[in-house]
Amino acid sequence: MSDIAETRPGRYLFQKADICDAAVVRGLFEKYGIDTVCHFAAESHVDRSILKPDSFIQTNIIGTFNLLEAARARGKEFRLFHHISTDEVYGSLGPVGAFTEETPYRPNSPYSASKASSDHLVRAYHETYGLPTTLSNCSNNYGPYQFPEKLIPLVTLNALEEKPLPVYGDGKNVRDWLYVTDHCEAIRQIMEKGRRGETYNIGGHAEMENIVIVEMICDLVDEYAPSPKGDSRRRLISFVKDRPGHDRRYAIDFKKLHEELGWSPAESFASGLRKTVRWYLDHLPWSERIRSGEYQSWIKEQYGNR
Ligand code: DAU
Repeated sequence: MSDIAETRPGRYLFQKADICDAAVVRGLFEKYGIDTVCHFAAESHVDRSILKPDSFIQTNIIGTFNLLEAARARGKEFRLFHHISTDEVYGSLGPVGAFTEETPYRPNSPYSASKASSDHLVRAYHETYGLPTTLSNCSNNYGPYQFPEKLIPLVTLNALEEKPLPVYGDGKNVRDWLYVTDHCEAIRQIMEKGRRGETYNIGGHAEMENIVIVEMICDLVDEYAPSPKGDSRRRLISFVKDRPGHDRRYAIDFKKLHEELGWSPAESFASGLRKTVRWYLDHLPWSERIRSGEYQSWIKEQYGNR
């Protein structure tokens, strides 16, 4: 793959580069006169951070620091640094309540601790240097093109292939789910209209127990691609050893985003999940490419002993 690709001349440019390389990042900001950043780049999978935290510290903390420094070096020309973060920085909830922007940070995994650290850096650059920033903390995303290490694509593909469906612990951990394009729209609105220096929570109002999602996926795969065995894929559900430090419940209060900017999610979980499962079944070559090589050794290391 070439390191640089221009798909729409003058409007879009892809540059393959490592955000941990400060000199390269700084050079790109100068070369292209970058004045706005929407910072998605991160190591994002909790289980990987438990097995090998190093790259999370490098990419999520040092990488964010390098981007902030490059932005700061642009001086008055720099307009906005938007930082994408996660609800996991707030830790775990009991059976009731929801995270607000005022909830104290209490990260429980190397992943969430690295994201919390990067959030603090962004905040500090606004307070100390006056860098124009916005920050968003979002709940679990799902939809097309999600890497199949995450729950929904992993279970969809395993179900299709009649492989065990690993459910951690008792399967009653709760996540709040947001369809990916709803997240994108929220980010666009925050970047356009959000108050500088502020944080906005983004959520889907779709709290679900993991086991319920896994059962829904089984039923959708059965509907679209009936099992050759003629019965329900729910028989593949396999309760495995829990994730260490597994947060019990997340829920997001996104009143601030709704009241200030008018955003709310457009997709319901049932229709979003249906579209997502259908997408994976229709794009098997995409998943095949992704699931070769390194992915195979990851699955072996992660699920081998559970
Ligand atoms: O809450 C936002 C976060 O959502 C993002 O910041 C993370 O980058 C993203 O990976 C996601 O974190 P989770 O750990 O919640 O997502 P994951 O898909 O790994 O797991 C969802 C739930 O399903 C979680 O409670 C663990 C459980 N799980 C996951 C896998 C991969 C299983 O029971 N079995 C599995 O094999």
